[in-house]
Amino acid sequence: MKRRKSRFSLTGYIIFFATILVCVCVSVLAFELVGKTGNRLLIFLVMFAAVALMAGVCTWIDCIRRKYMVERPVNEILSATEKIAGGDFTVRLHPKHGYDKYDEYDRIFENINKMAEELSHNEVLKTDFISNVSHEIKTPLAILSNYATLLQEKGLSESAREEYTRSLLFATKRLSDLITNILKLNKLENQVLEEKKEELHLGDVLGEIVLGFEEWIGEKDIDLVCDIDDVVYRTDRTYMEIVGNNLLSNAIKFTPAGGRICVSLKDEARGVVLRVSDTGCGMSPEIGARIFDKFYQGDTSHKGEGNGLGLALVKKVIDRIGGEIAVESEEGKGSVFTITLKK
Ligand SMILES: Nc1ncnc2c1ncn2[C@@H]1O[C@H](COP(=O)(O)OP(=O)(O)O)[C@@H](O)[C@H]1O
Ligand SMILES: [Mg+2]
Repeated sequence: MKRRKSRFSLTGYIIFFATILVCVCVSVLAFELVGKTGNRLLIFLVMFAAVALMAGVCTWIDCIRRKYMVERPVNEILSATEKIAGGDFTVRLHPKHGYDKYDEYDRIFENINKMAEELSHNEVLKTDFISNVSHEIKTPLAILSNYATLLQEKGLSESAREEYTRSLLFATKRLSDLITNILKLNKLENQVLEEKKEELHLGDVLGEIVLGFEEWIGEKDIDLVCDIDDVVYRTDRTYMEIVGNNLLSNAIKFTPAGGRICVSLKDEARGVVLRVSDTGCGMSPEIGARIFDKFYQGDTSHKGEGNGLGLALVKKVIDRIGGEIAVESEEGKGSVFTITLKK
């Protein structure tokens, strides 16, 4: 525990008071000694000199005290805050005492350092975000422009026209998914997406989500096993759709044809537990550590099929409703995503 030391402590004031007291006592003593000589002018001069000396000493002590204890740190704070206000977040102040003897100014220094660090971190995140979004938008836009040009060619065969149109629609969907996800993420981060709680039959909601993926599961010849209980839980339907859609689409995407996916929903003692497991490509611990970062895509072979925002959204939603998300995964064997919603 850090010991708090005050620059304006009682001891400081007692020392200052004692100095004045000594000066006054010396003056009175001098007055007493000179008073015995009976020379009134000498008495006046000695008194004047003693009082002037006392005032001078006190002013000098106060000047030194202000210079070192107030003026210097205030100037340092002023110049640091001016730099931060001008956009230079690299500025750092050095506390004058050891960590266990911090006074008020040391604590202000420390807080300014923390603020500068936080601001520079946010600046990096903002720049990364803008460059990621620009990159993600550029790819489908290039596809749109290329295929639109190709479609203008005269004498196109019916099959070529169909293929180009399909690619155009795919790029349009990618762009619209990206924008929808960015907007959702932004709303969640700024707490704008209000949680509309309602009594939900989670089993039904999950069933509908699974049905939406039926065609894709069929195309990949994936064996889907569902063990879904009818659990009633009070939450926002949109939140549950974000979680279910992203976990299931990832499981299908990262599982090769002929694989198996299990979806289970159970009402357990620790809470409502949703588990999505697959026999897909799995992930290394390095990838696993970053999957909730915005725009992170660990498996580059599926880069075109997503934008790395799915799990970031799932994490935001789970944090928002106070649940937990756990991932177990082994490279080449598969992954298990477990969501626990507290009751
Ligand atoms: N079921 C899974 N199996 C293997 N890797 C996965 C799985 N789910 C997510 N991942 C990894 O996490 C990354 C981030 O997932 P996500 O945010 O949904 O982005 P995206 O699906 O757009 O790639 C993926 O790119 C992938 O590397
Ligand atoms: Mg995804």
